[in-house]
Amino acid sequence: MKVLILTGPSGVGKNIVAAVLAGKLSRCAVIDVDVVRWMVLQPHKAPWDGEEGKAQQKLGVQNTCLLTRSFVNAGFDVIILNVLTDETARLYKAELKEIEPKIVLLLPTLDEIKRRNAVRGRRLTDDEVERVYDCQQHLTVYDTEIDNTHLSAKELAARLADLYLSTPSFHVNPTDSQEDTMLQDLIRKNRSYRRFHQNVPVELETLRALVNLARLSASGANLQPLKYILSCDPETNAGIFPHTRWADYLKDWGGPTEGERPVAYIVILGDTEIRQSFGCDHGIAAQSIMLGATERGLGGCIIGSIDRDGLRQTLDIPERYEILLVLALGRPRETVVLEEVGPGGDIRYYRDTESVHHVPKRSLDELILREYRR
Ligand SMILES: Cc1cc2nc3c(=O)[nH]c(=O)nc-3n(C[C@H](O)[C@H](O)[C@H](O)COP(=O)(O)O)c2cc1C
Repeated sequence: MKVLILTGPSGVGKNIVAAVLAGKLSRCAVIDVDVVRWMVLQPHKAPWDGEEGKAQQKLGVQNTCLLTRSFVNAGFDVIILNVLTDETARLYKAELKEIEPKIVLLLPTLDEIKRRNAVRGRRLTDDEVERVYDCQQHLTVYDTEIDNTHLSAKELAARLADLYLSTPSFHVNPTDSQEDTMLQDLIRKNRSYRRFHQNVPVELETLRALVNLARLSASGANLQPLKYILSCDPETNAGIFPHTRWADYLKDWGGPTEGERPVAYIVILGDTEIRQSFGCDHGIAAQSIMLGATERGLGGCIIGSIDRDGLRQTLDIPERYEILLVLALGRPRETVVLEEVGPGGDIRYYRDTESVHHVPKRSLDELILREYRR
């Protein structure tokens, strides 16, 4: 971790979790942006208070970024606490671009937030609580959303540590090239997501840009036999969805329900007039596309378990094309964490009581059969 930005409705527990998380790090600074903003006393304006309010909000972000940079340069990880809007989230991402801050949206249920506000002595009216909650619920610029309704500060800090502390800190390993770190970050983040914000669309241009990544990737004998069908059209998506099979290990879950289904699909086809078998071309293409999607704040799932006859009929796909994979895409609406395979060797993914999806990965030592050292 380098810089983690926590957002969420007032009373969500940002301060407490930051303190617990900081305790797990060797060097960590916590910046409460309210404190930075309250350095301006005359005239002090709230963000919604006209042009001056907006200007002070922007200044607050910029000053926070200056402080952050200074802490990072001195070898600290930084946790920023701020209730973000899409605009301020983008500003942080732009101002701290090279440090790649991660934004985590903490979003428990509204009832829980009201309960916590009451415990804190009703610092906000119910109306104000609902307004801030609504604003946070509609935030689209963030990396991870966590529903912490049933999580203690300690459990939440552990979840954040799982997500981000495994990433090498900027100053822990300064000899790492930034590219290595960026690629590892991207691959760690590129999980299989199966629940999405169905109200956040993906544009056709984005799908085309993703297929372009596949186009530039490796292909056996450079024959490039793959073809693609793209859809971000809700009606076509509704036709594709019933032909996809989801999360076979989750026996009591029937796949994403209406409201959390993918908003886009890329169907990967093999052109049998170019080649009869497609080797691992489609695996490479799928990975390029999923990495590109992750880089754009999207996520998805590679689907190989497909009702191929049904899909062929629905999309009117000529026999000449073999249906290889379906990539389901959208803005993820679930938390996925990696963990080591336990001593029992069970590799089946599972969901815990908070609906967090856990994916066991075998250890590096288990995978490497032999090493021949120089
Ligand atoms: C070739 C391939 C086919 C897959 N098919 C399906 C599928 O049909 N349905 C599904 O829910 N997940 C499918 N997955 C996703 C895997 O279940 C997922 O990669 C695995 O659980 C590990 O999780 P991770 O991607 O987060 O590392 C597929 C993945 C690959 C690589």
